[in-house]
Amino acid sequence: MHNLHTELILFSPTGTTRTVLEAIAEGLEPESISRLDLTRSAHAPSHAPEHAQSGSGIKTLALIGMPVHAGRVPTLAVERMRAIKGMGRPAVLVAVYGNRAFDDALLELRDLTRELGFVPVAGAAFIGQHSFSTPEFPVAEGRPDVTDRDRATAFGRLVRDKLDGISHEAELRNLPELQVPGNFPYREGVQAAPISPETVSESCVLCGECAQACPSAAISLHADSVTTENMLCLRCCACIRACPTGSRVMLHPRILELGRTLHAQYAQRREPEFFL
Ligand SMILES: Cc1cc2nc3c(=O)[nH]c(=O)nc-3n(C[C@H](O)[C@H](O)[C@H](O)COP(=O)(O)O)c2cc1C
Repeated sequence: MHNLHTELILFSPTGTTRTVLEAIAEGLEPESISRLDLTRSAHAPSHAPEHAQSGSGIKTLALIGMPVHAGRVPTLAVERMRAIKGMGRPAVLVAVYGNRAFDDALLELRDLTRELGFVPVAGAAFIGQHSFSTPEFPVAEGRPDVTDRDRATAFGRLVRDKLDGISHEAELRNLPELQVPGNFPYREGVQAAPISPETVSESCVLCGECAQACPSAAISLHADSVTTENMLCLRCCACIRACPTGSRVMLHPRILELGRTLHAQYAQRREPEFFL
């Protein structure tokens, strides 16, 4: 498959999935690259790159990356993916998880992308700093690190080799179904609950960075306060990372306890896995 265009399609509240995809894209060495970031908004229902279909001489590979939330693809990301048409394009599927487990997320992503008309050709699971990691109780802190990024680029090269071995559309359609770990029915996933980060009003400067960072528009900026619609919150902690004054904090005891448990139980470094 020559003249490869790669389209990154991603949902990445705290940026680790994005970093992994960029490193994979480096190894793919595409002739051109575009990005469709679903983190903060959905896209037009008919979205498909102009040269998605065969006949234009350029083949488009979709490089699709999602974080793992409670062993699943985040519901909001699935909703936003549903506006995208695969149109027979080959797809590389990437799940990024916080060093506990990716459970059913990669399987869910494979099933979803097939349903949307993509042809999954490869999959991978990478590790990213856990959203609930704190300096006191770090979980996969600093990942993906240099080693992870090198492995991601190496994975990209393997995928490119596989694609270069496919010379006809028919070969792509006749590939055996991509096998990835996971179980169906999938795990339960994240349940809505009145839990979200809070704003410390004494130090908040009302800059609105938290509201801008929020994937689910759960945060509203008012003349003299910031409010959070906690039932909409994904608990992704993007607002905490984005706040320049450290005024967004997660104080809910259930999340603090979970962070401590993850730190204690999942300290051993897990490594990326490839499925080709
Ligand atoms: C609500 C929630 C649930 C999560 N569940 C899992 C999980 O089941 N297993 C795991 O290893 N990491 C889990 N994580 C951690 C994320 O998968 C990890 O931090 C990932 O790198 C985030 O990707 P991003 O930086 O692209 O947002 C969870 C994070 C959140 C916010």
